[in-house]
Amino acid sequence: MPEIKFYNRAPVPMEMHKVKIVQKLTLLPAKKRLQKMYDAGFNTFLLHNSDIFMDMLTDSGVNAMSDNMQSAMLRADDAYAGSETFYRMRAKLEEIFGIPNLLPTHQGRACEHILSQHLVKPGNCVIMNYHFTTSKAHITRLGGHVEELVKDEGLVPKSNLPFKGNIDLDKVRACIAKEGADNIAYMRLEAGTNLIGGQPISYENMKAATDIAKEHGILTVLDASLLQDNLYFNKTREEALKDKSVAEITRMIADLFDVIYFSGRKFGFGRGGGILVRDEALFHAMEDYITMFEGFLTYGGMSVKEMEAMIIGFEETMDIDVISQGPQFIAHCVRELDKLGVPMITPGGGLGAHIDARQMVSHIPSNEYPAGSLVAALYLCGGIRGMERGTLSEERNPDGTEHIASVEMVRLAFPRRVFTLSQTEYVIDRVKWLYDHRHMIGGLRFVHEPKTLRFFTGKLEPVSDWPEKLMEAYIADFGDDQ
Ligand code: F0G
Repeated sequence: MPEIKFYNRAPVPMEMHKVKIVQKLTLLPAKKRLQKMYDAGFNTFLLHNSDIFMDMLTDSGVNAMSDNMQSAMLRADDAYAGSETFYRMRAKLEEIFGIPNLLPTHQGRACEHILSQHLVKPGNCVIMNYHFTTSKAHITRLGGHVEELVKDEGLVPKSNLPFKGNIDLDKVRACIAKEGADNIAYMRLEAGTNLIGGQPISYENMKAATDIAKEHGILTVLDASLLQDNLYFNKTREEALKDKSVAEITRMIADLFDVIYFSGRKFGFGRGGGILVRDEALFHAMEDYITMFEGFLTYGGMSVKEMEAMIIGFEETMDIDVISQGPQFIAHCVRELDKLGVPMITPGGGLGAHIDARQMVSHIPSNEYPAGSLVAALYLCGGIRGMERGTLSEERNPDGTEHIASVEMVRLAFPRRVFTLSQTEYVIDRVKWLYDHRHMIGGLRFVHEPKTLRFFTGKLEPVSDWPEKLMEAYIADFGDDQ
């Protein structure tokens, strides 16, 4: 949907839905938030949802369902084995992606677990445009390693490139020559490249990269978790695709891959996941893992109610009116903050608006977690929960030193169909306030540091009394009741 035109003012992004059910929000007073942040060990994952005003942590499992999705839940067919719901889901996915073989899983990382268990041997390499935390952790746990071959421009925070998620084809060829095709377990391309700011990958680039893989007999895998945003950008930014329907573009992309997996917590507006496998032998070889780790082959750990809802969610994903709202709200937020001088990752992508923390709090050294500090400060100053996507989200090098992230960001996710424009304006306002007070933000250090995926459960403390000082300034401007 192009932006709706306005008669007498600049256009704003428009919700193409109306609200039928609401959840009340509370904004805790400033000093209470400070206490909650200490309780959560300065880790926004450890906050209680009821203490948050704007939950922009993620778009995972928190997208709003439509009336049609909710009503579909009523016809869910409860059965341990042979549920009609499964056959409906499989048929819908085959209609969309053209692949008849579906392995159901409880969420996206379960797909990654199963694929890597089956395909990655110690010493193997997996080629990616960019890693995602869980996809990389599964591979390295098995003794494999990841080669991230995104184009250099993809890592430049401020840019006007339409497809920053594109993989560098020369680097792909060089990597295959260096590793040897036999040592490459698979090529994984991630649509809507999460960790570089939800940046899309073009169809043209996916085609060229998978052509190279096929030349060398390398298995091609699409992580379609964020495909819905990517599809919007394929349609609106890729000249050759502008007259194709979303469904046609989806099928063109799907045809490039041997395996497609997704987190249904994002793709399909529900909670679940699935792996589509073109090759029958590979499909059957991975069935055992489903029954061992997920559940029986016709539910894979998912609730059948969620599966019914997702069937409608997949259908809605083929509707340009539905998938354009996320990117349009994000574009608005990024554009406004950029105008106010806040260093944003540009252009706006899918999934969320991303602040370039390395730039905004450049006085905080990488080993004191600039993005981790900034995301904590944003909760203190507005009750907004974002997510750190930087060094804190990395695992340490084998010698114990910090692995400094190539991109250090705070992500403000826009769960689909959830937030209104006035809430978005509030976020813009508080981020600007924080930008003007950025020098008051200090670093963090670990007090409890888990070995794997430490950002989920680790606890930290501020290196000084910067949170108290920052809150004093905030209260002076806004009062202590908000
Ligand atoms: N792949 C991508 C691209 C993802 O963004 C995620 C999850 C996964 C795989 C794993 O799926 O959570 O269902 O197990 N991303 C979430 C996020 C966690 O907040 O970005 P999952």
